[in-house]
Amino acid sequence: MKSRRAISLRAHHLPWNSAGNLADNDLTADDVVRETGWVFNNETGDELTLKAFVETGDKEVQRYIRLLQLESFQFENSTLLEIGSGIGRMTSSFTNRCNAVIAADVDSAFLERCRQTVARYGRIDRLSTLHVANGKTLGREDKSVDMTFSYITLQHCQPQDALALVSEAIRVTRSGGLIVLNFRTWVVSDIVLVPLGIAVRRLWKLPVLGRRLARWRWSTRLGWQANRLKPDTVLQQFESQLREIKIIHSIKRKLAVAASQDNTAQTVPTNRINPSHWWLVAQVS
Ligand SMILES: C[S@@+](CC[C@H](N)C(=O)[O-])C[C@H]1O[C@@H](n2cnc3c(N)ncnc32)[C@H](O)[C@@H]1O
Repeated sequence: MKSRRAISLRAHHLPWNSAGNLADNDLTADDVVRETGWVFNNETGDELTLKAFVETGDKEVQRYIRLLQLESFQFENSTLLEIGSGIGRMTSSFTNRCNAVIAADVDSAFLERCRQTVARYGRIDRLSTLHVANGKTLGREDKSVDMTFSYITLQHCQPQDALALVSEAIRVTRSGGLIVLNFRTWVVSDIVLVPLGIAVRRLWKLPVLGRRLARWRWSTRLGWQANRLKPDTVLQQFESQLREIKIIHSIKRKLAVAASQDNTAQTVPTNRINPSHWWLVAQVS
C-alpha cells in the first residue's frame, strides 16, 4: 500500500493514526493483526491471525445482538453504518447479516484493511467505506441507513466530537431506525486514570517523541480514552429526537437516569457488560 495519507494532528487521533501507519504497508493481513490488532481487541501475540481476530468480532456481534435485545431487528433487509469499524473485526460479521454495510473510521488505512478483511471473511459486495476525516461528521445523506452502530469508539473521541457523532448518527438514521451506541462512563479508578490520560495526551503532542509514544501500548491505553459520558449528559441533548430509549448497562453497578419529561428512558441492567460501559439503544423519531 504505502499511500500518502492525510493524518490528523489532534492528540486523541494519534494512536489510531500510528496504528494506521503500521497497517498502511505491505504486511500480510495476519501480520497487521499481530502488529496492530491489540488496539481493537486488546489481544497480543505472535500466533494471532486475521481469522481468529474476525472470529472475536463475530462472537461479540452475536453477544450484543442478544444482550442489547436486537433479535427482532431485520438485519437482512437493512443498511447498517458502523462508526469506528477499524480493520473490520465486527464489520465482516455485519456484512454477513445485513443487506449493506458502511464502515466509517477516522483512519483511512484501517478502511483499506477493512475492505481486505471483509473480502476474505464477509461479503465485500455489501460493503462501502466512509472516511470520518475530521472525527465528527458522517458524509452521508439524512435518513439513509436503518441502524447506526458503534462499539468502543465514542469513548476515544473528545466529548464534543463524541456528542457530534451521536447527532450525526441520529441524522443519518431513518425515522423508526435504530441507533446502537456504546459509551464509557465514570468509575472510581478514573480519579487516577483521567488525569494520567490528560498528561499522556499532552506528551503525544511533543515533536518526534510524541508520535513514538502514541505507538506504545502502555501510553496508548492510558491516553486513548478521551471522555467519560453519563447517560444523562447524552439524553439531555438528544432525548427529544428519540423514542423507545434503553440504557443498557452492567448489573454490577447502578446507573441513574434522571426522569425525563416523558419518562421514556428505560434502564436495563444486564450481565457481561463492562461496568464502565453503557449502551444507548433507541429508535429515531
Ligand atoms: C477500539 S477501536 C474499535 C474498533 C471496532 N469497533 C472493534 O471493536 O474492533 C476504535 C476505532 O474507532 C476509530 N475512531 C476513533 N475515533 C474516531 C472518530 N472520531 N470517528 C470515527 N472513528 C474513530 C479508531 O480509528 C478505531 O478504529
